[in-house]
Amino acid sequence: MIELEGITHRYREGQPPALDGVSLVIGAGERVALLGPSGAGKSTLLRCITGLVRPTQGVVRFRGRPVTGASPGELRAIRKEIGVIFQEYHLIEPYTALGNVLVGRFGHLPLWRVLLGLFPRADRELARRALAQVGLADQAQVPVRRLSGGQRQRVAVARALVQGGGVILGDEPVSNLDPATARMVLELLCEGNRREGTTLVLSLHAPELALEFCDRIVVLRAGRVVLDRPAREVTPGDLAAAYGLRAPASGAPGAPPG
Ligand SMILES: Nc1ncnc2c1ncn2[C@@H]1O[C@H](COP(=O)(O)OP(=O)(O)OP(=O)(O)O)[C@@H](O)[C@H]1O
Ligand SMILES: [Mg+2]
Repeated sequence: MIELEGITHRYREGQPPALDGVSLVIGAGERVALLGPSGAGKSTLLRCITGLVRPTQGVVRFRGRPVTGASPGELRAIRKEIGVIFQEYHLIEPYTALGNVLVGRFGHLPLWRVLLGLFPRADRELARRALAQVGLADQAQVPVRRLSGGQRQRVAVARALVQGGGVILGDEPVSNLDPATARMVLELLCEGNRREGTTLVLSLHAPELALEFCDRIVVLRAGRVVLDRPAREVTPGDLAAAYGLRAPASGAPGAPPG
């Protein structure tokens, strides 16, 4: 589904690379957690997959099609198949929650419908259902600029859910949510994975959520993959080592060195 081959990316010349020779193959239907300390390159990696960042070196392929070097038209076609939950949400402020979720359908509709805001009933229902699934049924008509951080994040999740491209990339999709809502959102994403085989690549800051909801753990550190293993085989000690911490004595993953 997604292939990264020898990806190196420098945002600025002379700076250390944000990604440093990353190679990964992600198969259809996998649930991959991307972990790693702040600045490790998780967002950069996700941006390379959608072509938002053009890596300095290496090749990215999506369903066998090259993303690196793709024309704007080819990139549009690829992006139509990928639901993205951005770290900064990227919502349209004056639009309502429902309007923002409908943005997820833009790629499937003729331009005149988008420009006139004439969405087919089926798309409106899909969007309403997604909002209800993330617990925002009551907020459908509220402009997102009036929503809380966690509500905005859930609008972004709903938008990715309705996109229906078979792949969801989430850049810290639950970072702003209370623990119960975070689990609810991850369960929702996993349900799509179980039911429709949606491929999930989620950057997360909570290793325990990664181990619970994902089947493969990839840890980045300073732009390199330092761990790539099935979740069931990952121990707290592995995670501590990957984060560059001393292994915790009592087994809490990611505990700081005492
Ligand atoms: N637009 C940018 N311009 C210049 N440098 C950048 C830019 N975006 C990220 N970087 C640098 O690239 C490196 C990787 O950043 P990235 O955002 O991918 O990390 P991350 O793992 O997503 O971190 P976080 O957990 O804090 O979101 C960092 O050193 C960061 O400072
Ligand atoms: Mg990031």
